Amino acid sequence: MAKKTLRDIELKDKKVLVRVDFNVPLDKEGNITDDTRIVAALPTIEYVIKAGGKAILFSHLGRIKTEADKATNSMRPVAKRLGELINKDVIFVGQTRGKELEDAINALKPGDVLMFENTRFEDLEGKKESGNDPELGKYWASLGDVFINDAFGTAHRAHASNVGISSNIKEAVAGLLLEKEINFIGGALENPERPFVAILGGAKVSDKIEVITNLLKVADKVLIGGGMAFTFLKALGYEVGKSLVELDKVDLAKELLEKANGKIELGFDVLTGKAFDANTEVNVRQFNEIPEDEMGLDIGPKTVERFKEILKDAKTVVWNGPQGVFEMDAFANGTKQVALALADLQGKAVTIVGGGDSAAAVAKFNLEDKFSHISTGGGASLEYLEGKVLPGIACVQDK
Ligand code: 3PG
Repeated sequence: MAKKTLRDIELKDKKVLVRVDFNVPLDKEGNITDDTRIVAALPTIEYVIKAGGKAILFSHLGRIKTEADKATNSMRPVAKRLGELINKDVIFVGQTRGKELEDAINALKPGDVLMFENTRFEDLEGKKESGNDPELGKYWASLGDVFINDAFGTAHRAHASNVGISSNIKEAVAGLLLEKEINFIGGALENPERPFVAILGGAKVSDKIEVITNLLKVADKVLIGGGMAFTFLKALGYEVGKSLVELDKVDLAKELLEKANGKIELGFDVLTGKAFDANTEVNVRQFNEIPEDEMGLDIGPKTVERFKEILKDAKTVVWNGPQGVFEMDAFANGTKQVALALADLQGKAVTIVGGGDSAAAVAKFNLEDKFSHISTGGGASLEYLEGKVLPGIACVQDK
């Protein structure tokens, strides 16, 4: 069902509550090390400013368990960075509720931007934000006239700052980033142009069971690399040496292979080493010749060729999870080749990268501009691909 967006409501002179996901990485000195999520929210923020709304921004940052966590998880540096990006003063209020915040909001003029403190500061006395405390959602809703949810990265959480506000305000709509994520990821799942190929990787099958199960229903091919491939190889009867295997998931891998009816592709070979070490000697091994004292750390050259062959005709591709230990140069090739194969599809297919590690890999290879969409959600994109209803999307009104 299509969702209402900020284009569907009046913003002029309105106090516009905007939930963003500015949960960005900070170094020990409090510097932002990756501002991708802030940049991704700029279209919505700029839209509100241009429309003459009074933008009231808020987000969580990290997890707040003790009073000491507050000092290292303040939104203050984020507000500063946002100000630099939009070339405009961002009024920062170091509170999550109270008179100072209310007065600052009441003093806003059309086009002003205000950000208040980390919503999870409200978690110290009883998880009010994370637990969607009804009083808190109602209070925050009372601070604005309308609500825009643009925090896709938080869409798998039912917090007071997304679900709570939306159930206490007349208009709750999607921002441009949330809309884009829904259009790309939701679009691929619901109405993909075919062939639709999914590429999955990462260390553990257990993290991706529901994603595999869901994608097997909608994709034409599911390519599996990374550590999780070895549980599938074991299920097929191969000896995998010291490779990562989840023995308690071998039967499940067997079931998935049976259900897949030929849709799952594992390739033919892997790169191995004797140790999980960047300097270990690298060997190419066919699946049936992995020695007892070696572990698979990347997909091999024949697997790369097979995956490329399948990808070249794809019209929709969803990629979630690296194909090997791409942080080590010796085992980065599989992931890089997959990224390049997808980059080659630019203009010919819709290519979507789930957040987290695969997005980090694309950044490492400087290929960000070559994809149709790189999701800003790690956990959220995973749960979306699992076919779950995300509370942060469900709480936005339907058209
Ligand atoms: C994320 O980074 O995945 C989101 O911002 C959610 O953060 P959380 O895992 O701490 O809820």
